[in-house]
Amino acid sequence: MEKKYQMPNLKDARLRTDNPVDIKENLFKIPKAVENIGFGKNFYLRTYGCQANERDGEVMLGIFKQLGYTQVFDTEEADVILLNTCAIREGAEDKVFGELGSLKRLKRENPDLILGLCGCMAQEEYVVNRILEKYQHVDLVFGTHNIHRLPQLLGQAIFSKEKVIEVFSEEGHVIENLPSSRVGHHKAWVNIIYGCDKFCSYCIVPYTRGKERSRMMSDVLNEIDEVIEAGYKEVTLLGQNVNAYGKDLEDGTSFAKLLQAVADKNIARIRFTTSHPWDFSEEMIEVIASNSNVMPSFHLPVQSGNDKILRMMGRRYTVDSYKEIYNKLKTRIPNCSFTTDIIVGFPNETQAQFQETLDLYEYCKFDLAYTFVYSPRKGTPAAKFEDNISDEVKSQRLQELNLLVGKYAQENNAKYLNKVVKVLVDGPSKRNKDIYSGYSETNKLVNFTPMKAKVGDIVKVLITETKSYSLNGIEKED
Ligand code: SAH
Ligand code: SF4
Ligand code: F3S
Repeated sequence: MEKKYQMPNLKDARLRTDNPVDIKENLFKIPKAVENIGFGKNFYLRTYGCQANERDGEVMLGIFKQLGYTQVFDTEEADVILLNTCAIREGAEDKVFGELGSLKRLKRENPDLILGLCGCMAQEEYVVNRILEKYQHVDLVFGTHNIHRLPQLLGQAIFSKEKVIEVFSEEGHVIENLPSSRVGHHKAWVNIIYGCDKFCSYCIVPYTRGKERSRMMSDVLNEIDEVIEAGYKEVTLLGQNVNAYGKDLEDGTSFAKLLQAVADKNIARIRFTTSHPWDFSEEMIEVIASNSNVMPSFHLPVQSGNDKILRMMGRRYTVDSYKEIYNKLKTRIPNCSFTTDIIVGFPNETQAQFQETLDLYEYCKFDLAYTFVYSPRKGTPAAKFEDNISDEVKSQRLQELNLLVGKYAQENNAKYLNKVVKVLVDGPSKRNKDIYSGYSETNKLVNFTPMKAKVGDIVKVLITETKSYSLNGIEKED
């Protein structure tokens, strides 16, 4: 039988070769047969997961619009439903399977509806096999490496009325001619590096996203110029590990050099995410400290406060070296904010090892932490580790850690009382139209009574009340 589907393969996805990365300038094309295929039709796109996925969602939005589709926010009104998925933890995948289950009814009522799944889950063979077995109402599956093929694949699904599955398990290229439709009005995300080569033992991302591939600095800077031209005030440079930017290019560029070049542009706010603590260079700290438009807010996932666990996780730094970067940043950039990610219940994590995570938390007094119970991911080395810690103990540890997270969130925010902060205005808050909200330079959510503030302005706000996860205040007129 002719091979019908192109299925994912996590083993192939793991491969890393010395093959140079191709910068593809003309891979995305809309074939004649599908031009205006969406005219008079609606699409619904739901994105789960991290900013990399959100940015991919903006690309898909751009493609749908070029095909003539109109975006809707209710699945009942859609002719095409696409779920852009995340595979980072079992819980993330369960949500998607739940959603697929509840969409069955719509497909039954409207057999012409196209239901698609893409993103990181599509890169896992067990997910696609499960879809083939139990979710036969899914019409289209494609992965993170072939988003540019959306017009062709969608056309195929619509015209052939057969299931279309095309997932590439490759190292990946850089594709430069993709359209996109940004969701934010004054905040823009710009990819600088794709993929991940760190292979932390618990993590699925290196398998779902391919190898580290930097975009050419000129391409990044051109995109920054475009967003400035379009009136954006803030840009967030994106990568699973932005510090690795440029290491795969042979032109001597680095993240520090790129960051300096972006800071030289006329843009009010620059952020970046995520930074791996391992290769956070002195040069980077220097660029951050010496440019006022690089925001003083850092997200540096630490994962654990115990060296043995860090080694088993393959994180390549020690608790001491993490503290060293932390101290350098806090000294060079006073009043900066610091956030992190922590995993509790890594296989066989002892109570004493967990205690060291709490101790590190007490030491760093993070502004905020995203905390997770370890979730085994099929195909990763840690999924094979023996684990004798019960789920109950794991969730107790998470609760205990979250108490500290809440305590320091509140203490850190309390420091802002009676201080004036600069806020980039998002607009009226959801609950109360008379109150505006936005984010401070240190990335604190600020709700305030506006005076002259308009969406997209940067205004001064006097903080009159502090809460654990937000600040309240009044706009201060100059
Ligand atoms: N590239 C980023 C992390 C991206 S994933 C970095 O390394 O800094 C976001 C967070 O999800 C991770 O920092 C980690 O805390 C968590 N995570 C990743 N894999 C996980 C797993 N298998 N179980 C639980 N949490 C996980
Ligand atoms: Fe995952 Fe580690 Fe890569 Fe982050 S650095 S995406 S945690 S493998
Ligand atoms: Fe999830 Fe993929 Fe991002 S697994 S966290 S959407 S890179």
